[in-house]
Amino acid sequence: MQRIGFIGLGLMGRGMSRVLLDAGYSLTVWNRTTKKADELMKAGAVWAGSPAEVAAASDVVITMVTDSAASEEVICGPAGVLKSARPDLCVVDMSSIAPEMSRAIAARAREKSVIMLDAPVTGNPKVAAAGKLGIMVGGPVEAFEKCKPIFEAMAAKIVHVGEKNGLGTTLKLINNLILGVAIQASAEALVLAEKVGIDPRKVMEITSVGGARTGAMETRGPWMIERNFDPHFTVHNMYKDLSNAMKLADGCGAVLPATSISLEMLRAARSQGDGEKDSCIVLKVLERLAGL
Ligand SMILES: NC(=O)c1ccc[n+]([C@@H]2O[C@H](COP(=O)([O-])OP(=O)(O)OC[C@H]3O[C@@H](n4cnc5c(N)ncnc54)[C@H](OP(=O)(O)O)[C@@H]3O)[C@@H](O)[C@H]2O)c1
Repeated sequence: MQRIGFIGLGLMGRGMSRVLLDAGYSLTVWNRTTKKADELMKAGAVWAGSPAEVAAASDVVITMVTDSAASEEVICGPAGVLKSARPDLCVVDMSSIAPEMSRAIAARAREKSVIMLDAPVTGNPKVAAAGKLGIMVGGPVEAFEKCKPIFEAMAAKIVHVGEKNGLGTTLKLINNLILGVAIQASAEALVLAEKVGIDPRKVMEITSVGGARTGAMETRGPWMIERNFDPHFTVHNMYKDLSNAMKLADGCGAVLPATSISLEMLRAARSQGDGEKDSCIVLKVLERLAGL
């Protein structure tokens, strides 16, 4: 079995790495905030002092960090993966980052004969811990095949988008604009229901069947109704993805009116100090606008 290195033990990374450990892989881990690795180390993971040390101990290194800057830092930075990478190491960046950064990192990796895949995911921390993610992969098919058993341990659906780096992260932006807009629509529906005196639970009940059914309402509806905005997918992270989707549209001339409205609502949530909360907190922004 390949030796796996895992960098980034946040909400998603903790569950994903635990699934790999449970599947029998040996795991070397690093996280900027060390205490987040405690539970994983109790379960058998080995700590390394830097991303470079993780790479030295691994055949495949997975990174799962916040954004483009973080991926660049842990892979290309002074103590990054590429510092100690040997030829034929495979680096799989599963973070949701800008496609141009995926391509730039892959080019830096190629200079060291390191193979790179961008493989962002759909799901949430609970789905990650259950090994039921969706994974979309950009990069060479040979590397994809090599990593497929690892993806299979973590995922319910795996899509190889194409041979070019950046195609996985491009598809992820397309996926997340649907999610962002669907959360916005679900929040609007719940606020309208509240204003006209309909119990929001009735909205959830009726939209569990029929054409208005969405994963956004199914997962986030209960959180919004209970006003539980503990982070599963933060406002900051959704804002980052929709900003990158807008840049992608800008580059190719696509027009994304609904996405731009969702982005503005997330900007309002950030301005109100709720960036670290779950992105369904756009409900609160709408309630304020509606005088609730
Ligand atoms: N949460 C979801 O539902 C979900 C679903 C699909 C995809 N994603 C994507 O998955 C990625 C991770 O999301 P998450 O929810 O797990 O976020 P998170 O809980 O905020 O974790 C982010 C991770 O990145 C690390 N990090 C951030 N900046 C860094 C830097 N400059 N150097 C080194 N490490 C850095 C953090 O380290 P510290 O622990 O030290 O802060 C942490 O390990 C994001 O790209 C997100 O968009 C999330």
